[in-house]
Amino acid sequence: MRKNIVAGNWKMNKTFSDAEELIDQIVVDMENKDLKCELIICPPAPFLEMASDYAEESRLKVGAQNINEHESGAYTGEISAPMLDSIDIEYCIIGHSERRKYFHETDEQLAQKANLLLDYGIKPIFCVGEVLEERENNTHFDVVKKQMEDGMFHLNSDEFSNVIIAYEPVWAIGTGKTASPEQAQEMHAYIRKLILEKYGKETAEEVSILYGGSCNPGNAKSLFSQEDVDGGLIGGASLKSDDFLAIASSFE
Ligand code: 13P
Repeated sequence: MRKNIVAGNWKMNKTFSDAEELIDQIVVDMENKDLKCELIICPPAPFLEMASDYAEESRLKVGAQNINEHESGAYTGEISAPMLDSIDIEYCIIGHSERRKYFHETDEQLAQKANLLLDYGIKPIFCVGEVLEERENNTHFDVVKKQMEDGMFHLNSDEFSNVIIAYEPVWAIGTGKTASPEQAQEMHAYIRKLILEKYGKETAEEVSILYGGSCNPGNAKSLFSQEDVDGGLIGGASLKSDDFLAIASSFE
C-alpha cells in the first residue's frame, strides 16, 4: 500500500529560535495524535541539522528544499547531496516552481539532482505543475508530462520507487486559489497513468503523489479523499503547528 505523506515546505521563513520552537511544538503535538500519514518538515538549510536531531528522537522526518546538481566543488553558497547525507536528511524537494522560475532550473538539472540524491539514499520530492496560462490554453497535461519525462523518466524502476511526486499547479501556490478536488484528482490520475506506462502497475500503485497549492485545514480532507491524492506539500499552513497537524489529521 502506498504511503500517505504530509510535507511542510517552510520556504525562506523563520529564524533559528522560531524554527526550534515550531519543531518542538510539532513533535509534542504529533505525539498526541494517531496520524495516518508520514509527517515531513523541510526547513531552510541552516536549521536542518537541528531538525535532524529532533527527528532522531521522534516520528518526524526531515527534508531539504534543494541541492546543487554537482556532488562537490567550487559552487559558492550551494549545498550538496553528501552534505545532507552527513546529517541524516531523508528527503529533498527538487524542482519547486519557485526554483524553476527565480533560479531558472531546468529539467535536465533536476534529473542530475535526482541522480545524486538517490546515490546518497535521499528520497527526492519532485515537483511538477503548470502555470495559469498553460491551464487556460489546455496544455497543462503536456507540460506535466514533459516535466516527468525530462526530470524523472531516465531513472530505472528501482530508483523511481524511491521518488515522491508533488503536483503543484503554480496558479494555486500562495494565492489562496486551491485546485478543486476534481482538478487535483484528474491530474494525479494522469501522472499515475504516465508512471504506469513507463514503469508498470506495481510501481504506479506504490508511488505517493502529493498535492500542493493553498492547501489548508479547511480543504485538506476533500483533496486527500481523492483516489490518487496521497497527501500534500504544504507551504504557508506548515508554519503553524496547529494548522500543519490539522492538515495531517485529514485522512479518513
Ligand atoms: P502554499 O501552501 O503556501 O500555497 O505553498 C505551496 C507550496 O509551494 C509548497 O511547496
